Amino acid sequence: MTTLPQTRRPDLKTSLPGPRSQEIMARDAARLSTSYVRPYAFVPDFGNGVWLTDVDGNTMLDFFAGIAVSTAGYNHPHIVKAITEQAGKFMHVCLSDYPQEPTTLLAERLLKHVEKPGEPWRAFFGNSGAEAVEAAVKLARHHTGRSHIISTLGSFHGRTYGALTLTGSKTKYKRGFGPMLPAVTHVPYPNPFRPPFNSTPEHCGDAVLDHLRTLFQTVIPADEVAAFIIEPMQGEGGYIVPPMGFLKKLRHLCDQNGILLIFDEVQSGMGRTGKMFSFQQFEEYGGVQPDIITLAKGMASGMPISAMLAKESVMTWPKGSHGSTFGGNPVSAAAALATLDLLEGVVKHPGCGDSLMDNAAQVGAFMLAELKAMQGRYSFLGDVRGKGMFIGLEFVDAQGQPDGKLRDRLSQEMFNAGLLNLDCGESVIRVSPPLILTLEEAKTGLEIMRRVFERQL
Ligand SMILES: Cc1ncc(COP(=O)(O)O)c(C=O)c1O
Repeated sequence: MTTLPQTRRPDLKTSLPGPRSQEIMARDAARLSTSYVRPYAFVPDFGNGVWLTDVDGNTMLDFFAGIAVSTAGYNHPHIVKAITEQAGKFMHVCLSDYPQEPTTLLAERLLKHVEKPGEPWRAFFGNSGAEAVEAAVKLARHHTGRSHIISTLGSFHGRTYGALTLTGSKTKYKRGFGPMLPAVTHVPYPNPFRPPFNSTPEHCGDAVLDHLRTLFQTVIPADEVAAFIIEPMQGEGGYIVPPMGFLKKLRHLCDQNGILLIFDEVQSGMGRTGKMFSFQQFEEYGGVQPDIITLAKGMASGMPISAMLAKESVMTWPKGSHGSTFGGNPVSAAAALATLDLLEGVVKHPGCGDSLMDNAAQVGAFMLAELKAMQGRYSFLGDVRGKGMFIGLEFVDAQGQPDGKLRDRLSQEMFNAGLLNLDCGESVIRVSPPLILTLEEAKTGLEIMRRVFERQL
């Protein structure tokens, strides 16, 4: 493996955006879809490790990983090698029609992380998170013969019609696009920092489940519900960790009513929280097993691929009922296998302990502790939460209400100081760096944050 970069600092050679960036941004603005957001003036040219350099030569530290995607950072030699080798063999022979080794291996290795003795699972591969969610919902309806799906407020499941209907975070995603899929209901997410139904941090999960029971008695016949879909840790909605024990109780309620439980791990999965899947963080509290899992984002360190994993007893749809031309592309599958090598520690990454999962847990715990310590000094830092390298910072005003304007300003200031970051929820900045982030690099990023916060006092 080639040597990866030594620890360094952001290196800004021009004010942002530089002249070349400005030129590309203007051409981009003239020709690309008007729906793209473009909150930050950065035009990447190349990356290395956790560092991204723009077309003007400005090098930034990456604390968002292309929305929790670049698991192994940029241009990781092990990932590049896997991609190059597979591209030299074949780049496409439709997986719906022809079995192929990279996806066979990938299924075997992914399923190992969820299977229990005597309970086999199977995998379906797609290209994006939304496609995995669509597959999950179609399978749940097909298997149960029921139509209704329950989702949560604040959730994000994708932009295609089914996934968009399930999404519960912002009306801007839906305005002008209706009608949505019928038979979808949203219930509040158990957010301990802002407990729904005037409950408490400890009991907000019970309050949500009581609400669900009421819905089953009044408006939604439980025997018409195919599935409950939930992010075990909510991503776009604000990097929220539900109370311990909630998922287990939800599992119980689903079982009582023959409802399938879908865990959308598109953002929180693939080692980001320090375990392969975020629901495994709750194992010491009795554990919980879903029926279906959706994965994408971090699976292949930047190459497009997604997976819908389901218990074999649930994956009962017949041949030809679902498929995808590009889904499970072999080059992406090779990148996913190489990503698993690093996550599991089969291949070691220098300076990252036994495995990238281990590194996410260790360095993430350090960051969480440091950020929690900052909370004491900065009253606008209302909440610091998360697991591993899935951390949310919620900004509040003097009354403790979400302060989105402050969040936006501080986020821009961090960006201007050389730290790539990204918002989520109403007033949250997410910390979701590549999982190869070292302790020294974490300290560099935290120091930028600290300086930005200090100026705000
Ligand atoms: C939890 C979750 N599910 C699904 C999706 C949709 O994934 P994609 O954008 O790849 O379609 C996202 C994207 O942010 C997500 O966070």
